[in-house]
Amino acid sequence: MNNFIEQAVSILKERLPELPTVGIVLGSGLGGLADKIESPVYVPYGELPGFVTSTAPGHAGRFVAGRLAGKPVLCMQGRLHFYEGHSMQDIAFPIRVMKALGVQTLILTNAAGGVNTSFSIGDLMVLEDHINFMGANPLTGPNDDSIGPRFCDMTFAYTPALRELAFSVAEKQGVKLQKGVYLGYMGPNYETPAEIRAFRTLGADAVGMSTVPEVIAASHCGLNVLAISLITNMAAGIEKKKLSGDEVIEIANQRAQVLQTLVSGIIEAL
Ligand code: HPA
Repeated sequence: MNNFIEQAVSILKERLPELPTVGIVLGSGLGGLADKIESPVYVPYGELPGFVTSTAPGHAGRFVAGRLAGKPVLCMQGRLHFYEGHSMQDIAFPIRVMKALGVQTLILTNAAGGVNTSFSIGDLMVLEDHINFMGANPLTGPNDDSIGPRFCDMTFAYTPALRELAFSVAEKQGVKLQKGVYLGYMGPNYETPAEIRAFRTLGADAVGMSTVPEVIAASHCGLNVLAISLITNMAAGIEKKKLSGDEVIEIANQRAQVLQTLVSGIIEAL
């Protein structure tokens, strides 16, 4: 296995109170869930070999470890995006470290634009599948067979049992959940209205600039995956007005609590 993975794992094993079984990756403006972790231990990415730091707004750039809803978790408070100039391999790296530490279930959140016109701003969407439109893939290059297979199956990348669990927890909490296909766009510009029309024709329900690389890396190394989008805006051209990053963060802040309670409930029920 990659030397840096082993080094990062051995440092984290020394610093973490216990080995995590659940990994969490938090999206733009959604980092607040990490503040709910009990007896948190913080490890900035910059203190770990092989890691690059996140520069995106609304992303803190550190691991937060501890207990959430009774389970040992390791949370990425701040994720890495392809548009920041990180390589796909850099984005995959923390996911592989989580797996090597003993994480079995990976839960990801993201902020996304609604492509499906029946969605509303503030909706939560469970990802059933994705379309990789980022023009790159974390699995290119030599394959490390000790991490996963050369040709990685993606049929059940979004673990069906976890999706079912998300719906049953949401029902108990009285939270409406959408489901759909997330299209990963490289960014950093928002899409054009023509692109959004094309993506709808391709079968996308939501569009965003993250999640796809992490889910590919997670599938490759055999993690169970649940991903939930917060629809922070309707995608370009739907509402005949400009999109803004501030609006994305504002809606994320407004709806963060509902998403946090849902994710906590899912972790409790795992
Ligand atoms: N497009 C891409 N990424 C996004 C959007 C969007 O409309 N909203 C939040 N993240």
